[in-house]
Amino acid sequence: MVKPFIIGTRNSREMLHIGAEILRKGGTAMDAVEAATRSVEENPDDHSVGLGGIPNLLGVPQMDASIMDGRTLRTGAVAALEGYLHPISVARKVLELSPHVLLVGPGAALFARAVGFEDTELLTDESRDIYKAFVEDALGSIEDERRREYLVSYVEDYNLRDWYEKLSEEHWGTVNIMAMDAKGDICSGVSTSGLSLKLPGRVGDSPIIGAGNYCDNRVGAAACTGRGEFAIRLSTARAIINRMENGASIREACVWAMRDIHALNEPGGISCLALDRNGNTMSASTRRESTHYYMDVDSEGSEERLGVWVKNKEERT
Ligand code: GLY
Repeated sequence: MVKPFIIGTRNSREMLHIGAEILRKGGTAMDAVEAATRSVEENPDDHSVGLGGIPNLLGVPQMDASIMDGRTLRTGAVAALEGYLHPISVARKVLELSPHVLLVGPGAALFARAVGFEDTELLTDESRDIYKAFVEDALGSIEDERRREYLVSYVEDYNLRDWYEKLSEEHWGTVNIMAMDAKGDICSGVSTSGLSLKLPGRVGDSPIIGAGNYCDNRVGAAACTGRGEFAIRLSTARAIINRMENGASIREACVWAMRDIHALNEPGGISCLALDRNGNTMSASTRRESTHYYMDVDSEGSEERLGVWVKNKEERT
């Protein structure tokens, strides 16, 4: 039997300690993943997730999140959710209370309110300042009331793709957290404010099951960060699980998925995080040294684990 454990793409604000403590007390993998993710969502210093996340082109933060239960394969997700501090918890309620798997935009907000979440201002002074600096730099000193009109014509003139290519790596950020509990059940969660300064309504891979998140007790879990469009096009999270299902090791499956991203031969990259049912963990990235963080129920602190930096090569494994 594998010792209950939790892993994440980072360990800000002791998020893994929060999750490991829940597992230590006999809590479920889903409880641990949700609590750990919430601690990232409420961190105003993290500009890629939840409170303080960089807003969209119109200055409005829009959140994407998903959670998946590896025992039942039930999932809940929200996309382009505005005004709620904990998208991961709203996603969990979609899983638990609705017959659906994904709610978007105003419908997701309506659902959040209906099931008892309070609406919240997600812009912080800092994220507002980052947005203002972008607007002045990219759009010139354009008055607020004209911005929407300007952006519509910008999109209509097809400049958006050019602008998109100018975005740097720091415009993508997402937290992936996954856990296995004492029963051997696996849960994986993903939360993000998505691509910074995105076109309103743009949805990344994080709430798309199979793209940015997937989990199955019989195999393991996989999730992504980075340029979500790639993970959607390649069903990256599901592809990693497929590979493992067909006999690849967790490392081979992650490396193959990153090579598949390189094969697109387009600017931008993806990183992935995975675990298998035997308790092995792995991370990989097309763009940098890859690390992830691990804690089990006996750990005193979190352990940083090295993953694989998959550099661009022609051949695939
Ligand atoms: N991977 C996060 C996003 O593309 O929104």
